[in-house]
Amino acid sequence: MAAPYAPPPSTLYNRTPQSLYADRETMTAETTPDAVREALESYVDPYLGESLGAASAVEEVRVGAGIEARIVLGYPVGGYQAQLQQALSAHLASRGIPDALRLDLRSNIKAHAVQRNLKPLGEIANVVAVASGKGGVGKSTVAVNLALAWAAQGARVGLLDADIYGPSQPIMLGLAGERPTSPDGKKLKPLSAHGVSAMSIGFLVDEQQPMVWRGPMVTQALTQLLSETNWGPLDYLVVDMPPGTGDIQLTLAQRVPVAGAVIVTTPQDIALADARKGLKMFDKVAVPVLGVVENMSIHVCSNCGHAEHIFGAGGGTRMAAEYGVRLLGELPLDARIREETDAGHPTVVAEPDSPRAHAYFEMARNAAGALAMRARDRSALFPKIVIEES
Ligand SMILES: Nc1ncnc2c1ncn2[C@@H]1O[C@H](COP(=O)(O)OP(=O)(O)O)[C@@H](O)[C@H]1O
Ligand SMILES: [Mg+2]
Ligand SMILES: [Zn+2]
Repeated sequence: MAAPYAPPPSTLYNRTPQSLYADRETMTAETTPDAVREALESYVDPYLGESLGAASAVEEVRVGAGIEARIVLGYPVGGYQAQLQQALSAHLASRGIPDALRLDLRSNIKAHAVQRNLKPLGEIANVVAVASGKGGVGKSTVAVNLALAWAAQGARVGLLDADIYGPSQPIMLGLAGERPTSPDGKKLKPLSAHGVSAMSIGFLVDEQQPMVWRGPMVTQALTQLLSETNWGPLDYLVVDMPPGTGDIQLTLAQRVPVAGAVIVTTPQDIALADARKGLKMFDKVAVPVLGVVENMSIHVCSNCGHAEHIFGAGGGTRMAAEYGVRLLGELPLDARIREETDAGHPTVVAEPDSPRAHAYFEMARNAAGALAMRARDRSALFPKIVIEES
């Protein structure tokens, strides 16, 4: 026999408004800066994948008529203020601190450690390689949208198109046919599009004339393109790597001081284990893999807009778990992405408010968040220690 219905025990309904108010008063009385700081530091930021405490992100807390908190994150925060303020207010409330929060959110992007035998590139804080196990998976599309998303979020960004076999950044950035100049006769001035500085082998060679590159020529040409371009100060230089995991890619990954790599795959690529080769290559040269981007994972129908995992769901998640790396994003297969990118206005600048652009912005924040938690480059911090004999 079923038990008769009984309303859940409620203390709230039985209280007078006065007693509710008294409760609130006690909470407010307990709101000390230390308690607020502790609560804020326990918040796990989804992009860092760590607590604000672990990231030493809470700089200052003041308690007065409300709460004022200054939080400094190691990744670009443009467009994040409202979202984080709301999440932190809810987090504080759940910890018994319902006071109004005024968030002062800032970003401080540091240079992160590179391969141990290489020196970081002075003015370029972080080189981020975008790689893939094979061609045609959307690596260049991811690279350009990553660069443009970081720029839109407030970072100083460059894009180096290192794909010698099919440089596509001149077209994707709407710079086809343009040539870089050298005002000082020594270094090349990068071209600029949508706020990003760009250099591509495609600016320097005639696209109609197929070039025969031998391996050593390729790596020399690319390291030169990197070092002989006057990039100026950059938070991130995104490198669109040649596809695959052959000698050229390996040599590049050994010679260029890289802070982190992003591996682009498609669901089929995951099944064929090409992406794993990419992971292994960076492992071999001790470049940290920031994570995996699953491109074309959901098909968005251009007639009715319905979305479907035509290649099966969860491949990227499984792969990320298996190799202990993060899944940075799952990007839709959407004809508009190709149209926008081919027209020189990649999605994040063409339709920044669309769901497909949102997927790129999230991917960019995840990648920058993962990098922010990596070890810093300490080469500039520690002076040479001289031991004097007494
Ligand atoms: N998510 C996507 N949806 C639709 N088309 C895409 C998507 N990503 C890439 N493409 C298209 O697929 C083709 C290959 O992409 P590309 O970035 O040039 O690949 P890769 O650099 O890996 O060779 C291009 O025509 C591009 O516009
Ligand atoms: Mg490409
Ligand atoms: Zn449809």
